[in-house]
Amino acid sequence: MSDLILAIDQGTTNTKALLVGNDGQPVFRASAPLTLLTPQPGMVEQDPEALWQSVLTVIRECIAHSGAVGIKGIAISNQRETAVTWYRADASPAANAISWQCRRGEAICRQLATQTDLIRERTGLPLDPLVSATKWSWLLQQNPALRARAERGELCLGNVDSWLVYKLTGGAAHVTDHTNASRTALLDLETLQWDRDLLDLFAIPQVAMPQLACSSSLLGEVSAIPELAGVPIVSAIGDSHAAMVGHGSYTPGTIKATYGTGSSLMTLTPGLPAPTQSLARTIAWSHNGTAHFALEGNITMTGSAVQWVGEFLNLGDPTRDAVALAESVSDAAGVYFVPAMVGLGAPYWDSAARGTLTGLSHTSRREHMARAAVDAIAYQVADVFHAMRDAAGVDLPALHTDGGATRNSALMQFQADLLHVPVHRSSCEDLSALGAAWLGGLTLGWWHSMADLASLPQESTTFLPTTQRTSHYEGWKLAVRQTRLKGD
Ligand code: G3P
Repeated sequence: MSDLILAIDQGTTNTKALLVGNDGQPVFRASAPLTLLTPQPGMVEQDPEALWQSVLTVIRECIAHSGAVGIKGIAISNQRETAVTWYRADASPAANAISWQCRRGEAICRQLATQTDLIRERTGLPLDPLVSATKWSWLLQQNPALRARAERGELCLGNVDSWLVYKLTGGAAHVTDHTNASRTALLDLETLQWDRDLLDLFAIPQVAMPQLACSSSLLGEVSAIPELAGVPIVSAIGDSHAAMVGHGSYTPGTIKATYGTGSSLMTLTPGLPAPTQSLARTIAWSHNGTAHFALEGNITMTGSAVQWVGEFLNLGDPTRDAVALAESVSDAAGVYFVPAMVGLGAPYWDSAARGTLTGLSHTSRREHMARAAVDAIAYQVADVFHAMRDAAGVDLPALHTDGGATRNSALMQFQADLLHVPVHRSSCEDLSALGAAWLGGLTLGWWHSMADLASLPQESTTFLPTTQRTSHYEGWKLAVRQTRLKGD
């Protein structure tokens, strides 16, 4: 048995684990489901203890498969922005984790509206309830007793990577990586330090914040799992960033889209890009004390829009049956669905917009509605791709794709046609875990540079553009304009 890295991908709906050999290839996978809690409309939470137990479950499955002896390192990829709060003394949760999907920070965003430009300039992020700072700010504002404990250093704040490292190390390390930190709206992208002014603005005590570390670095040693005692934690990185690493192409202008509930596009830039209104600036990964930068565009609803239509049409298996309906027609027959149910993310950032269905006629059928939902994934990705091409200042010659919806080959072909560039679909279903494992291999000295990672074997399928889709895309742009007028 070769040496292995055990890579955890802690996501919103499940936790996965991947055992990766020192040839860079996966050898075993395990997964455990998770539930979301919705205590009130607009509020989304998760139980931190359930997150941790799901991680233990997949780790135990990996150990049962391969034994513990070959496991030389633990790598972590995780859902980002989700804000966890726990007691330093016994690592017990002080509150449920506030999910990245939760909108409870709206009021805080309104209060701080005059600081939007400052926040964007320092952190690269829009002031939006998505960012972790609004979530911790809300929690400490609601609960003065917790604030007092945070100020006394009795509380730990952290994203999911930080929570898992704390649990794995038995409380020895309160640390987070630069990519996770770059999604909090508290990290200065230039200094790579927590920003004092922003901590004050959100009223978050610095003493409660984790230490900062490189994505590829030694973050601690496992003590909570006897069979793995002493095994180093060799990487931590946000899942979207990890997928970027897993695509194996690291030159500026490389752009990837991860298709999930929502979607995230990221393109590597030569250095820290200038602020833009439509896109976020972020850290792609960090290694050896150096951060590598990217532009990111988050789309709020892509896969979940197809699910929504399936539920609306009362289909038995909402997503699967809606995709089947969509595939039964050759196009959407002029119907457009703009899934702005909770507003529009990148590149519009319009939280007042609401969903619209346009172009309906007497001959419109539910198949067209389903098709419009699938097409909306590709249109929204195209919107962000174009914004990135304008902002990155470098050519974007192809799109690398990963995630559940990419199994739909018709969607990938439509995407290539819309963008007029080749689409390379990764064959790996666990790209985030793989990317985290590769960064972990850098830490262990299995590989020495990103060029070594780029030369690891990887499989993909290429979709070349074949047809012009100009009029379809113009129809979409019009539908977005109508959606946004409604929101004004
Ligand atoms: O930004 C949120 C994102 O990291 C969530 O990822 O895979 O859990 O949907 P996922």
